[in-house]
Amino acid sequence: MDNVKTIQPLQKGLSGEILIPGDKSVSHRSVMFAGLCDSEVKITNFLHAADCMSTVNCMRSLGVNVQEIDENTLIVKGNGLHGLKEPQGIIDAGNSGTTLRLMMGILAGQKFLTTFTGDASLSRRPMGRVINPLSQMGANIVGRQNNKLLPITVIPPQENLHGISYQMPMSSAQVKSAILLAGMNADGETTVTEPYTSRDHTERMLTGFGVKLKKSGTSITISKVDKMTAPKEIHVPGDISSAAFWLVAASIIEGSDVILKDVGINETRTGIIDVLNDMGADIELLNVRDEVEPLADIRVRSAQLHGTTFGADIMPRLIDEIPIIAVAAMFAEGTTVITGAGELRVKETDRLQVITDEFNKVCPCIEGKEDGMVITGGQANNLKFARCNSHDDHRIAMALAVLGAAGAGIEIENSDCVNISYPTFYKILAQFE
Ligand code: S3P
Repeated sequence: MDNVKTIQPLQKGLSGEILIPGDKSVSHRSVMFAGLCDSEVKITNFLHAADCMSTVNCMRSLGVNVQEIDENTLIVKGNGLHGLKEPQGIIDAGNSGTTLRLMMGILAGQKFLTTFTGDASLSRRPMGRVINPLSQMGANIVGRQNNKLLPITVIPPQENLHGISYQMPMSSAQVKSAILLAGMNADGETTVTEPYTSRDHTERMLTGFGVKLKKSGTSITISKVDKMTAPKEIHVPGDISSAAFWLVAASIIEGSDVILKDVGINETRTGIIDVLNDMGADIELLNVRDEVEPLADIRVRSAQLHGTTFGADIMPRLIDEIPIIAVAAMFAEGTTVITGAGELRVKETDRLQVITDEFNKVCPCIEGKEDGMVITGGQANNLKFARCNSHDDHRIAMALAVLGAAGAGIEIENSDCVNISYPTFYKILAQFE
C-alpha cells in the first residue's frame, strides 16, 4: 500500500542544526492581510505546505495576485480593502480550518457570494462557532446541517454588518480572528472575549498593517477600518508547532544536542516549552530577537523527563502540541495528567481518540478521558514495533514518527498528510538515521 512510511529507531541522538519552516498561522494571515491592501508585499519564509496553499488559492480566486518567486517567497498584490472580487467557482479550503474560518470573517460583509468546500476532515469540523457570531453581526452565511458544516455559502448581507460584543464559549484564535476581521467591515465597535488568550498573530499583524485594536484582559476591540497600510515585507518566523517534534525528539533520544533555528517564540504559543521545562527538559533560548513576532534559536539536549499535570489555562498556548506531548509523557518517569483539552476532539481528527487508539498500539499506557488523558510514563523499554494510522492528521503522523524513532520503529499508514504543515519532515528525520 502506498502512503505507508516505515520509521527506523534512531541509533544515536539528534545533533547539528535544524532550520524550522515558516509558521503556518502567520503564513495564512500574511497572504490574507497583504491581499486586502493595494501595494506589493513580499513575504519571506512563507510555509510552502498544503494548508497555506489553500489560502493562496483562495486569495487568487478572489482576484488577488500572488506570485511565487521561489518555494518560500511570495509577492502579493491586492486591490485594496474593498477590492476583492466574486470568485467564479467554488473555493476549496482543503484541510485548512484557518483558511475557511478566517475567510468567512473577511467575506461576511462583502457584496458578492462565495461558496466553500473542503476535504472530508474539514467537512466534519464545526463551523457554527464562526457562523453564529457573524450572523449576530448581520452576516448571511448558510451551510449544511442547519448552518454548521461545509459546504458553506457566504451571501451578501442585506445591510452593513454591525459590531457586537461577543463572549466566546471556547478559546480559539480562528473564531476570534473571524470576528475581528468581520468587525473591520462593521459599523460601530466589535469586542470579542475569550476564556483564555489564544494565539494573537491576527492582532499583532493587523497592528503592523496600521489597524487600531484595543486589548483589555482577554478582550479585543476593533472598529471599522477604512484603509490598511501594508509593510513592504513580512518575514514569517519558524513554526514552534513544527519545532515541537524536535523539542521532544531531542529531549527523549539519548545523546541529543540540537539547535532549532529561527523559531517564533510568541508567548501565546510557547506552552510546549513551559510544559517540557516542567517535565525536566534541557531547553535553552539563544539569540532572542524581536520583530513583529519574537524569534529565537532553541538548543535542546536530552534529559530524563518526569510526568506533569496541566489543564485548560495553558491549553490555548499548546493546543496543537498535545500529540507530541503525549509522546514525551510516554518516556517520562511517572504519570502525566492532561485536562481541559476537549477542543482536541474537533481538530483535524478527534485527537484525544486517535492518540489513545494509535499510541496504545505501541504501548498500552494512555487512558482517554472526556476532556483529556492520563499517560503512565516510564515506557521507554516497553515500546513495540507497530503499524499505526495517522487518520490523515499531520500532527498525529509526525508524533507517531517521533514515537517510532525514539522507540522500536513504527509503520505509519496515511503518512503523506505531513504535507499539510511540514512537507520536509521525514527528510529531516532521515538525516539522523
Ligand atoms: C490556528 C488556531 C488553532 C490551531 C490551528 C491554527 C490559527 O485553532 O489549532 O492549528 O491559525 O488561528 P483554533 O482556533 O480552532 O483553536
